[in-house]
Amino acid sequence: MIKQAIIPLAGQGTRLLPLTSIFPKELLPINGKPGLEYILDECIKSGIKEVILIISNKKPFIKKYFNNDNFFKKIIKKKPNDKRIKYEYKKIKKYKKIIKFVYQNSPKGTGDAVLKCQKLIKSKYFLMLLADDLIVKNNCSLSMIKIHNKYNSSVIASTKVKKENVSRWGIFDLKKINRRNFLVNDVIEKPSIKSAPSNYAVIGRYILPKKIFKILKKQKPGRNNEIHITDAIRTLIHKKNKFLGHIFSGKYLDCGTMKGYIDSSLKIAKL
Ligand code: G1P
Repeated sequence: MIKQAIIPLAGQGTRLLPLTSIFPKELLPINGKPGLEYILDECIKSGIKEVILIISNKKPFIKKYFNNDNFFKKIIKKKPNDKRIKYEYKKIKKYKKIIKFVYQNSPKGTGDAVLKCQKLIKSKYFLMLLADDLIVKNNCSLSMIKIHNKYNSSVIASTKVKKENVSRWGIFDLKKINRRNFLVNDVIEKPSIKSAPSNYAVIGRYILPKKIFKILKKQKPGRNNEIHITDAIRTLIHKKNKFLGHIFSGKYLDCGTMKGYIDSSLKIAKL
């Protein structure tokens, strides 16, 4: 059973500068709610009981956001009839109950972030969510957990993207097995348009096996001198581990670029 999720949050958010020069991108509001809360809600609704947030000591606001009890208590004392504040504080306390923090103080890539969680992961498989990628209207993590339970394999979320944009994502080489799921033959991190094996992109939901830690420990830095989770997944695939791609049915909002972030707020507001 998948009960633990990890969320890497130690990146610098350079694609969203200047918004992220002081403020962590994951707390930027999307239609009045921090992006990270959408991700936590998705975890809770998919049955996750523990969420490990991988943070950096250069981004203190994330930890503070979930540990600002004195502030809330004082305000609630002053405004005892304000139901909205009480509701918001209760929600934050609910998140706090399931959150653990680990640190990745230098941004060496998603693979390095995952490795920081090694000691905390208990079961054979765990879920990873990238906070840039919001998927709304349908719980992608829940669908993926169901697929994992059925096929007992690793699962990665995917959607079709425009050919001219493939260099923004990890891209799958795949063999279709049904309308929504495919077998992954290979995956390439941000390929050129010419070398992309398809236009099915990796989107930030992964069910990964615990044995990926062993691979990550030996993983050499790849693109931009970072340790990429995609490269470790690739090694596992080459070693004949089964990875399924899941073409999710929810709506994908890419909040990791300035244009995507602005569009996301507008799109969510219209839902
Ligand atoms: C990361 C992954 C990439 C994936 C993308 C999804 O890239 O490395 O494979 O397609 O997330 O959003 P990043 O957004 O960190 O550049």
